Amino acid sequence: MRAEEDKAAGLIRIRDAAEGWSMKGKTVLFTGASRGMGRFAAIELARLGAEVLVVGHNQARGAAAVEAIRGTGGSAQFLRADMGEAADVCALAAAVLARGGPVDVLIHSAGGLLPAGARTREGVDRGFAQNFLGAFLLTRLLEERLLASAPARVIALGSSAHKLVKAADIDALLHPGPAALPMDASQRGRYQMRSYRWPSSP
Ligand SMILES: NC(=O)c1ccc[n+]([C@@H]2O[C@H](COP(=O)([O-])OP(=O)(O)OC[C@H]3O[C@@H](n4cnc5c(N)ncnc54)[C@H](OP(=O)(O)O)[C@@H]3O)[C@@H](O)[C@H]2O)c1
Repeated sequence: MRAEEDKAAGLIRIRDAAEGWSMKGKTVLFTGASRGMGRFAAIELARLGAEVLVVGHNQARGAAAVEAIRGTGGSAQFLRADMGEAADVCALAAAVLARGGPVDVLIHSAGGLLPAGARTREGVDRGFAQNFLGAFLLTRLLEERLLASAPARVIALGSSAHKLVKAADIDALLHPGPAALPMDASQRGRYQMRSYRWPSSP
């Protein structure tokens, strides 16, 4: 409940700051816009006139977010992709490129904490993949379109939690390993901090 109140307060601040702005004619590709902060921001961007391409990995939540945006008179479409899976990210980029037109804003908000030991289909640490690698890959795949859409913007949400990490083993995150090893709470915590670490400051 407290989190919802904080998000609502943030929304009011966004509305105040956006007074008089227009996003009319702009296309916003928004990962993680199916719920949480992303959904609030997506609704506001649509209110300002943007077409929002909502990216998430859950079809039902994505459809609900699109409905909410359309309910305010905004324009939106859902594109399903698991940002932790390279194949999904490639397919997403291909779909965005195929629809043509500019990508004026790319917002990376998809992410979150996962159980320790979870791996992608390729065997990469799942938290690392969905919080960082997917966003990096999508940006690179859309780079030419973003440059052609100048002045485009790329916005990536992060977390200050990485400051709690003393060391990170990037090799261990990237190397294929067994899926979903059982971990205790402290191991989970260390894993979660690690997943926020790279490529942030040392
Ligand atoms: N809330 C905080 O206090 C806080 C603090 C620091 C950083 N952050 C970061 O800020 C971002 C937004 O936070 P939030 O609290 O608004 O998140 P949230 O409510 O948990 O929503 C996460 C969003 O990311 C999407 N998502 C998660 N994993 C995905 C995946 N593998 N592929 C595609 N989409 C995926 C979810 O889509 P589905 O609906 O399909 O699951 C959802 O739209 C996250 O990256 C989070 O790590 C949040």
